[in-house]
Amino acid sequence: MSGKEGEKDAKRKMRYMIYIALIIAACISILIVSLLHPFNSNPGKIAAGIKPTNANSLDATPRLTSVNAWKAPGENTIPKGKAGETIKYGRELLAHTAQYFGPKGSVAQITNGMNCQNCHLDAGTKLFGNNFASFISGYPKLSNRSGRMAKPAERIAECFERSLAGKVPDTAGKEVQAILSYMKWLGRDVKKGQEMFGNATEKLPFLDEAADPAKGKIIFAAKCQSCHGEKGEGVHATDQITYTYPPLWGKNSYNDGAGMYRLGNFAGFVKNNMPLGATYQNPQLTNEEAWNVAAFVNTQPRPHKDQQRDWPDLMKKPIDFPFGPYIDTFSEKQHKLGPFKPIKNAQK
Ligand code: HEC
Ligand code: HEC
Repeated sequence: MSGKEGEKDAKRKMRYMIYIALIIAACISILIVSLLHPFNSNPGKIAAGIKPTNANSLDATPRLTSVNAWKAPGENTIPKGKAGETIKYGRELLAHTAQYFGPKGSVAQITNGMNCQNCHLDAGTKLFGNNFASFISGYPKLSNRSGRMAKPAERIAECFERSLAGKVPDTAGKEVQAILSYMKWLGRDVKKGQEMFGNATEKLPFLDEAADPAKGKIIFAAKCQSCHGEKGEGVHATDQITYTYPPLWGKNSYNDGAGMYRLGNFAGFVKNNMPLGATYQNPQLTNEEAWNVAAFVNTQPRPHKDQQRDWPDLMKKPIDFPFGPYIDTFSEKQHKLGPFKPIKNAQK
């Protein structure tokens, strides 16, 4: 090796060392920065501490919200004065129903102690959280359940009787009228028949097989029981008037005439809202898990309501309504748990 070549070689080695040193310095600085500012590993709005027990059970990517999504009117659109006070009182009644109508209610003692807001999340404003977007604009209308022309106040009373397993309130009274004022304000920008993304609850695709209460029980134990209780009994707040975690079955839960008792409503609700903190964009359950946990919860005991006079036109009876008679020959069990596809196909 000549002297010149040896020099070249030494220079090359030197350059090489400098590169390595630079790379190491870069790595160290990245490490320091990331230790000082940990990357947010969960940018979604999932409540702290709630993680899916099985990462595979999550939808791979957050779902997109359509531009046509409903938005509740802003707080600043509530009028000043008496009209505005009434709207706010209506909202208060939905949020803290138990304080006014529960077993220790200040207005009347006619319900099971749940709040309307336990199911109509954020006072009926949450996307796919059983919201009231198109409720008011739908009236006047024929109620398929009762077979009569119904007024909005009667629909409100139905949730008192079924979801709150209680008695019909005075529909002309100050409270029901305040709830109505709130709902009119909430739905003021919606036209009759208008299609809106996020209205009420999502309709999940049917499974090929029947929903399975045994599989649902496992999901319940892993993802629901910590809040709703081992026997689905819920947890009372320290005031013993309201629930911190509302019951899912048993004597203080909704009765078997309630909307939640229908599997499709329950599955659609929990898919996008439970465990608490889940949203349409960040669901925590797969569709199958949602159907199965619905099957488990809705095969547990709860108050009964006589519904023999409901759905007088059998053609209008929802296919997941679990009490006969039906226009078809499928069993009550299949109408309750599915498989629903054959029933749907038979109706075509
Ligand atoms: C246990 C859950 C639950 C509770 C509690 C509950 N609801 Fe509901 N409600 C539902 C479900 C599910 C539906 C939709 C399914 C149906 O129409 O049967 C619904 C539907 C409604 C509708 C019709 C909405 C529309 O767009 O047509 C109104 C109005 C309503 N509820 C008012 C109330 C009021 C007022 C309260 C409190 C007094 C209440 N709900 C409590 C579950 C509940
Ligand atoms: C971190 C606590 C928590 C967990 C876990 C949780 N929930 Fe809930 N759930 C709540 C709370 C709180 C409400 C009432 C929300 C409100 O009033 O705003 C609720 C409401 C409900 C309701 C409507 C009201 C009722 O009692 O019928 C259903 C149905 C429900 N949850 C089902 C489930 C299911 C199924 C799971 C498991 C997949 C689950 N929840 C997991 C806290 C929880």
